[in-house]
Amino acid sequence: MRKRILVTGGAGFLGSHLCEILLRNGNEVICVDNFFTGSKDNIVHLLDNPYFELIRHDITFPLYVEVDEIYNFACPASPIHYQFDPVQTTKTSVMGAINMLGLAKRLKIKILQASTSEVYGDPKIHPQPEHYRGNVNPIGPRACYDEGKRCAETLFFDYHRQHKLKIKVIRIFNTYGPRMHPNDGRVVSNFIVQALRGEDITIYGDGLQTRSFCYVDDLIEGIIKMMNSPDDFTGPINLGNPSEFTILELAEKIISMTGSNSKIVFKPLPEDDPLQRKPDITLAKNRLKWEPKTTLEDGLSKTINYFKRIIK
Ligand SMILES: NC(=O)c1ccc[n+]([C@@H]2O[C@H](COP(=O)([O-])OP(=O)(O)OC[C@H]3O[C@@H](n4cnc5c(N)ncnc54)[C@H](O)[C@@H]3O)[C@@H](O)[C@H]2O)c1
Repeated sequence: MRKRILVTGGAGFLGSHLCEILLRNGNEVICVDNFFTGSKDNIVHLLDNPYFELIRHDITFPLYVEVDEIYNFACPASPIHYQFDPVQTTKTSVMGAINMLGLAKRLKIKILQASTSEVYGDPKIHPQPEHYRGNVNPIGPRACYDEGKRCAETLFFDYHRQHKLKIKVIRIFNTYGPRMHPNDGRVVSNFIVQALRGEDITIYGDGLQTRSFCYVDDLIEGIIKMMNSPDDFTGPINLGNPSEFTILELAEKIISMTGSNSKIVFKPLPEDDPLQRKPDITLAKNRLKWEPKTTLEDGLSKTINYFKRIIK
């Protein structure tokens, strides 16, 4: 049976890939977005599809639509964007969650929350399992995002306990791929754009801090598996790629794959920037039979091709 599925933040990087796959799987999709960081370019190829609808709407205001499932993805995700209007960022996470949970409660439907590895803050445990409670500075410049997402998780679990709502919470780790915003300051898009333009590649800190990068197609597969998992499995569940690279290694790989003449320059580390981040995905492997398959080289090569097209 064709389901009607609401994707908030559907015109963003991850949301647009999710809309595409849900449509391909035979569903109807309603994409809701206020276009703060999303773009029509990300979904323009879907606009002719009669099973795709686009609504311009800010989820900090209530929304009344009739759907069978909700994926709540609306929220700026990169520090540059979420720190631009931090109050609106917290509102989007918290009031957006309340509005979407209210809708799910009224319709008695399942709702999935795109949470983040940022709920672990600057982690003292490595890699991070889901039961780790995190090390977040509640008053720092990243708090509007980290604490907003933590509060959204709280709301999801309270709706689950109090109203028996069917919830799913995923904690997404660094994901990259085509349709990332070229100017959002995220490390993969930053390095690729700088390399393609022949500009200096800026590394914050000594470059020995590590990150793990998941290719978008792998992530979307895990997200849909989580939504379709048994109702008693709420998560939170980590979704990401545990292969770890230093930022310096990433910069060197991108320079070599783009054949760029860019040089690497080092700048001071921003406040509260986590030094290490790597998901423990044992739970996803056991419960969803999911793990990422795309190698960093394959994923980077598809992403580099995308940026070559849009930079032109
Ligand atoms: N990309 C990652 O690596 C990553 C990692 C962890 C978590 N996440 C989460 O996944 C979700 C999507 O991230 P993304 O990387 O695609 O970011 P993105 O900025 O590309 O997408 C977010 C989308 O939400 C929209 N939006 C923002 N505020 C809104 C509001 N108030 N009402 C309606 N729409 C609004 C934006 O316009 C954009 O289209 C976010 O919730 C983010 O926190 C992403």
